[in-house]
Amino acid sequence: MSSVPSRITVPKFVAMKAAGRKITVLTAYDYPTARLVDAAGVEAILVGDSLAMVVQGHASTLRATLDEMIYHAEMVGRAAEHALVIVDMPFPSFLVGKYKAIENAARVLKETSCQAVKLEGGVDQVEVIEALVSAGIPVMAHVGLRPQSVHRQGGYRVQRDREQLLADAQAADRAGAFSIVLECIPADIAREITAAVSIPTIGIGAGADCDGQVLVLHDLLGLTAGHRPRHAKAYADLGTTITDAVARYRDEVREGVFPSEEQSFR
Ligand code: KIV
Repeated sequence: MSSVPSRITVPKFVAMKAAGRKITVLTAYDYPTARLVDAAGVEAILVGDSLAMVVQGHASTLRATLDEMIYHAEMVGRAAEHALVIVDMPFPSFLVGKYKAIENAARVLKETSCQAVKLEGGVDQVEVIEALVSAGIPVMAHVGLRPQSVHRQGGYRVQRDREQLLADAQAADRAGAFSIVLECIPADIAREITAAVSIPTIGIGAGADCDGQVLVLHDLLGLTAGHRPRHAKAYADLGTTITDAVARYRDEVREGVFPSEEQSFR
């Protein structure tokens, strides 16, 4: 009998809310890390446009392009056997009219083996969410801190406008989104939103009462260069592990210890 858990589909993901089962989501951007993340048993992998920052080294997510998202999503989609794979729609690929948004989101589903898209927006993106959903494209919405609106929001700040946050989440729910990311909002507002919507809320910096949580893989692994946000717990220090391993290799080459007989051919 196979020990591989069955594939998480959008309906199974949604059903976890009613079942009271917490949902774990983590980002990944390439084949080897997506395989490890998938094997660890998370319910969903997000190919986030955070790749512009943590993989490409840019100062914001605004630099990610649709072609780049598809390039990374194709690798992640091929690696995942269990997790639902959701791909971020980069700025401004869904802000260019609903027909162009369908065309762009459809490219993600046609050119990768991923199953859903995510877009930043609530009330303001109702028309686009409805259009994508009626085209058969599952949509995860994203409200609260919206990294693609960093300039309008004046930086990466906790969002506290309760009425706006609630309206955004409820609008996304009504428009047919299957889930909503709540980023950097007070825990009590996230709790209220989670109770008020029918679909799973996935928090990042939104407290413990969301239906699930998402983290950026590089933050979790201790690979983030520079500032790691307060909400992003590091479960490992792979940055130090990698630097130490490379330094040992450098030393062994310099000292003539590597390669030894064991790594040599006769
Ligand atoms: O791009 C991303 O990684 C995200 C998560 C922070 C939710 O949007």
